[in-house]
Amino acid sequence: MSHAPSTYQPTNPVLKWLEARLPILGLVHSSFVAYPTPRNLNYWWTFGGILSFLLGAQIVTGIILVMHYTPHADMAFKSVEHIMRDVNSGWMLRYLHANGASMFFVAVYIHIFRGMYYGSYKAPREVLWILGVIIYLLMMATGFLGYTLPWGQMSFWGATVITNFFSAIPFVGEAITTWLWGGYSVGNPTLQRFFSLHYLLPFVIAGVVVLHVWALHVAGQNNPTGVEPKTPQDSVPFTPYATLKDGFAMVAFCIVFAWFAFFIPNYLGHADNYIPANPGVTPAHIVPEWYYLPFYAILRAIPNKLLGVIAMFSSIAILAFLPWLDTSRVRSANYRPLYKQFFWVFVAVTIGLGWLGAKPAEGGYTIAARILTFWYFAHFLIILPLLGLIEKPKALPNSIAESVLGRGAQPAAAAAHAPEKR
Ligand code: HEM
Repeated sequence: MSHAPSTYQPTNPVLKWLEARLPILGLVHSSFVAYPTPRNLNYWWTFGGILSFLLGAQIVTGIILVMHYTPHADMAFKSVEHIMRDVNSGWMLRYLHANGASMFFVAVYIHIFRGMYYGSYKAPREVLWILGVIIYLLMMATGFLGYTLPWGQMSFWGATVITNFFSAIPFVGEAITTWLWGGYSVGNPTLQRFFSLHYLLPFVIAGVVVLHVWALHVAGQNNPTGVEPKTPQDSVPFTPYATLKDGFAMVAFCIVFAWFAFFIPNYLGHADNYIPANPGVTPAHIVPEWYYLPFYAILRAIPNKLLGVIAMFSSIAILAFLPWLDTSRVRSANYRPLYKQFFWVFVAVTIGLGWLGAKPAEGGYTIAARILTFWYFAHFLIILPLLGLIEKPKALPNSIAESVLGRGAQPAAAAAHAPEKR
């Protein structure tokens, strides 16, 4: 399935004039209206749309917050309190932005696990997947930089711990850390550069998302069977089918988002971040935001600082090699009985690592974190390459239409039932 040439013909003379000079409406039409979408997509395919919405929401709330925020070590904390107390709806903007970041990660984790379950990273979607990994890395950096801005205790000490990772690099580590800080410890210059980058990165993410969606439109969407669409009966037009489904899922997701932002806005935060940054007092436990916890657990599971940092970065970088580490020719876990089980074990291992990341790095917790870290890497480096060789997949359906309508389905019947079966 590739990009269908646009059939868009504007009748309005102004639009006709514009279209002859810049065919942007035709591009939108062929990408988001006529675009053929597999008819069997389930709700896990709505998260890309939800992510796009959340990125927009973060940029809008962020830009308004900046109108009232002061990126200076002496004023940042107070300016955030000013937003919460004095600015009209400032509390709402801040809670939407802070919880929006968490929701963004909830959505991206679902989006990534969806891709892993259905083998969406396999050829011809490798570049699409790698662009996703780049977006994910940029999201991690943006979230970290943003958490520094309120200049509370966790902001300050979180920034200190994370930037200190770089000092583990042999020979040049100390110099790099000093350069990052803009001084000899985390301080005002650090806050100002973090603010600048926190403002910049979401726009870089938006740019990479454009490439991501472009790559998606070249390869076409994968689907729950993992079988490529062959006949017109396998697809439905993006609008109204996908647009409505994505819209419905977005509203449902926003209800959860609103629950967090309006009823339990500090649930995912840390109480210590309501204490102004104090370089002289270290908090009892320095805990990163929940979405970093699995990687934090991997870092602390390794006794050597440099190796820990390498393991932590590798645990994310390894995702980029997934298209080549998974040797199976079948995409979807629905037809891979063994992989399906290992997939759920992997999900449990990641959640387990996340739980351990919030516990003190001692005793049984450390041992458990080491076992799960081993499993995490073994999943990519041992289990996936071997499974593809030894697993006997189930028979694949001949087509998407057949998987939806059954073997006896005639193409004509398939076409007639297209709307309600999707
Ligand atoms: C700002 C973050 C992101 C946005 C806005 C975004 C957007 C989208 C959209 C709109 C789609 C099509 C709808 C769908 O399949 O859900 C999509 C598909 C996809 N995304 Fe993302 N994405 C993001 C992050 C990621 C990340 C982090 C990864 C992986 C590491 C990833 C991997 C994929 C893959 C493999 C597909 C194709 C899925 C398929 O057709 O089965 N995306 N993305």
